Amino acid sequence: MGVRFTGWGIAVPERIVTNDELSQTLDTSDEWITERTGIRQRHVGGSAMSLGITAGLEAVKDAGLELSDIDFLVVATTTPDRLCPATAPMIANGMGLTCPAMDVNAACSGFMYAVRTAYGLLETGNKKILVIGTENLSRWVDWTDRNMAVLLGDGAGAAVLEYDPDGSDLLSFYLGADGSAADLLTCEHGGFFEMNGREVFRRAVRVVVDSAEKAMASAGITSSDLSLMIPHQANIRIIQAAAQRLDIDMDKAVITLDRYGNTSSSSIPLAFYDARSNGRIKPGEFALMTGFGAGMTWASAVVRWSR
Ligand code: ACO
Repeated sequence: MGVRFTGWGIAVPERIVTNDELSQTLDTSDEWITERTGIRQRHVGGSAMSLGITAGLEAVKDAGLELSDIDFLVVATTTPDRLCPATAPMIANGMGLTCPAMDVNAACSGFMYAVRTAYGLLETGNKKILVIGTENLSRWVDWTDRNMAVLLGDGAGAAVLEYDPDGSDLLSFYLGADGSAADLLTCEHGGFFEMNGREVFRRAVRVVVDSAEKAMASAGITSSDLSLMIPHQANIRIIQAAAQRLDIDMDKAVITLDRYGNTSSSSIPLAFYDARSNGRIKPGEFALMTGFGAGMTWASAVVRWSR
């Protein structure tokens, strides 16, 4: 079965919060945040719904489709606007879609999990699916907690996936989850994100490397075949450590966390969009998309662009 990525869109709120601004109210500094994470600023504001609508509309237009062409909407979000209903039907309504719509929550692996879900839906008869990763993480951040406040940002990224019997952009997947690590990164009802950063860091490198190796083996390629690595954007040091273990040159890694921070399930589509805008997506070339997040969850996919 073949699946093509045919359109992309993004949205970030206008308001930018710099590291210097955070250091006015927190015991931190631009130097510490930049050195330890690579993050220089983040966008803050909007809602999962409003950001998702903007990104989704752009992706459908970019694919050259009408809203009525979309068969299904899958929204990945860790920060739904409401516990109930899901964010997806509200985004669908805001966009003018009339198709089925549902949420997937796999934290920072969410976009990849949503793409995997869309793949399954395309396998069973749907033809055109809109996948949106959208996050309003700032709402669930304790802005007096320097451990989390420096890391997270808001944004959305969307992709249209279309069935194509003649070939596929998506060559392989490897997904995983380990709920025994749930307390390492958590947000209780009515609470804020809390994290054991060091342990998340250690495990993140391990699962990214393992899932990437398995996805590449399943696609029949090695890391030397890759032209691009599109990783989840949590910390530049996690990306560097994973790239080194996978023998991938950092020049091949797409980095957007300096501008957006960690936007959870939006980070991979935001990074893809950035790479495409900079002419880094070339037909025929292999790329690795890889993410990890709370759960813990992880997901890697090998793609070969056709456009
Ligand atoms: N500003 C200044 N100093 C700080 C800050 C800060 N924001 N945070 C911690 N420090 C201090 C610590 O108190 C510690 O001081 P000490 O040496 O006097 O004890 C020192 O800096 C080092 O602290 P560490 O926790 O060891 O710092 P580390 O290098 O591990 O970086 C970080 C911390 C950035 C959180 C890192 O562990 C990390 O990125 N972890 C993974 C985070 C992640 O990937 N989260 C994923 C998903 S988020 C989601 O799913 C929504």
